Amino acid sequence: MTTDAIHSQTTATADFSVGLASIEDIDGILAVQEANQPEHGGRLSARFTREWFAQAVQNQWLLVARSGTAVVGYVAFTSQQAQSQIPLIQAMLSAYPNPAAYLHGPICVAQDFRRRGVASALFSAQRAHRQQAPVMSFIREDNQPSRQAHIAMGLREVEMFTFGSTRFVIVTG
Ligand SMILES: CC(C)(COP(=O)(O)OP(=O)(O)OC[C@H]1O[C@@H](n2cnc3c(N)ncnc32)[C@H](O)[C@@H]1OP(=O)(O)O)[C@@H](O)C(=O)NCCC(=O)NCCS
Repeated sequence: MTTDAIHSQTTATADFSVGLASIEDIDGILAVQEANQPEHGGRLSARFTREWFAQAVQNQWLLVARSGTAVVGYVAFTSQQAQSQIPLIQAMLSAYPNPAAYLHGPICVAQDFRRRGVASALFSAQRAHRQQAPVMSFIREDNQPSRQAHIAMGLREVEMFTFGSTRFVIVTG
């Protein structure tokens, strides 16, 4: 799907809109990501680099929610192949092989914009961009807000796995 096509599906509400990320969004994405790292009280499981996000922009693997020019949320999505060298992804795929599915995540919304439907809007734009293809992801077992949000988005919890000392739940849809 082209950039024009995704923009024709842009979701606009009173205070945010969703569309494909551009290079100009990366500073804002990194700021939202940083605020949600465990050392800042957040629940993200990994930290992606500026270069990774730039590549995701180029591949059209990244959607953002913007309020004005500020990034208030983002979601990445890739093929399995693109992340198959990452041990945590390997652990998920060996616990629940699902070759038809693309990988959803990370998804993250700025604290002040939570419970306004930003994650739901990002996810539905992503699924439209992927033409409703099968999707899978993992969530830390103790991340109840994210588990609830993913169930609300229509995904189901299908398997658990352990990586290091952390338990994760696999969701698919
Ligand atoms: C998980 C996260 C992405 C949800 O984003 P969000 O924009 O607040 O979610 P939405 O507003 O779209 O919520 C949709 C539904 O999910 C559920 N939900 C979302 N947050 C919830 C929470 N804290 N507790 C319970 N249910 C929740 C609700 O059913 C909600 O619908 P409602 O508000 O009408 O009741 C957000 O909390 C976040 O960024 N957390 C930190 C980073 C993170 O954990 N990312 C996921 C890693 S797997």
